[in-house]
Amino acid sequence: MYATLIATGSYLPEKILTNKDLESMVDTSDEWIRTRSGIEQRHIAAEHETTSDLAVNAAKRALTNAGLQTSDIDLIVVATTTPDVIFPSTACIVQDKLGIKNAAAFDIQAVCSGFVYALSIVDKMIASGAHNRALVIGAETYSRILNWKDRATCVLFGDGAGAVIVTRSDKPGILASKIQSDGSRRNILNVPGQVRNGAIYGDPTVHMDGQAVFKFAVGAMVDICNATQAAAGVTSADIDWLVPHQANVRIIDATAKKLGVPLEKSIVTVSKHGNTSAASIPLALDVAFRDGRLKPGNLVQMVGVGGGFTWGSVLARWG
Ligand code: ACO
Repeated sequence: MYATLIATGSYLPEKILTNKDLESMVDTSDEWIRTRSGIEQRHIAAEHETTSDLAVNAAKRALTNAGLQTSDIDLIVVATTTPDVIFPSTACIVQDKLGIKNAAAFDIQAVCSGFVYALSIVDKMIASGAHNRALVIGAETYSRILNWKDRATCVLFGDGAGAVIVTRSDKPGILASKIQSDGSRRNILNVPGQVRNGAIYGDPTVHMDGQAVFKFAVGAMVDICNATQAAAGVTSADIDWLVPHQANVRIIDATAKKLGVPLEKSIVTVSKHGNTSAASIPLALDVAFRDGRLKPGNLVQMVGVGGGFTWGSVLARWG
């Protein structure tokens, strides 16, 4: 048996923050942000919106697109670095808001690789026969963990959610997945603050050594894509769509080039969404599905990299 991705859904908060808007907030320019990152705008959650609200909206759209009811779902996994609260998991909150009764629900914390980590785990849970149909969601409210006075980080991120439905099938399906991490690199990208005895100790906002991240990200993504292709017995020439984590257009282009995938086969949404961390890959999948590029039968390679450091890739034939 295989686990197959059959439908997507996504949700972006209404408020758009453009590079021009940022010019009045920090010492930056539209030109600097565009040329360094490819980002033009990002969405920002409203004060009342939480990560689970974004996730629920994306999940409802995925269920509608799949023609399924909430009662069809027996597994909910949310990849997020910006949970509503310390506990319960955002996945349990999503379960309650959707009114799903007979399902297991848990979160994955692997920062920007969270969605590929989640898919890799769900693949095993479904292919083994333990579960039948999963909602796999990447959802983030990164705007809440940014220092809006730090121009080196606040211009790069955005909020949003993407969801996919993964179901059991006798046809492949997810062909291979690989996930990896290296905790010794945790200092180049992190949120060092912690909650202790009712107070926050340290800085609860994103810290990043941009150049170190850039250097590591490309090599890690290329290596894990190659390893995943080898495990599935395919090559870059077989890939219909490369759906990489959307951090920076220069990272995406360098990865595609080194991998030997033509640039026009990469799905790129970072210009409109910014870096939405664990939500970026499912958001990109949904955009590609809705605009007609991604079709049933296509071979899709997803690849993510993020804080931890963590990285991973999933190769799937779309169901
Ligand atoms: N606007 C204007 N100037 C800025 C800004 C800004 N928003 N941010 C930094 N600068 C300045 C710096 O202060 C520096 O000035 P100086 O030369 O006077 O000291 C100058 O721009 C160059 O800074 P660098 O950090 O060297 O710029 P770089 O070319 O490396 O680009 C960037 C920075 C875009 C962060 C790049 O390193 C990068 O893309 N790194 C990858 C990081 C990334 O994508 N992170 C996302 C999270 S990680 C993930 O998702 C995997």
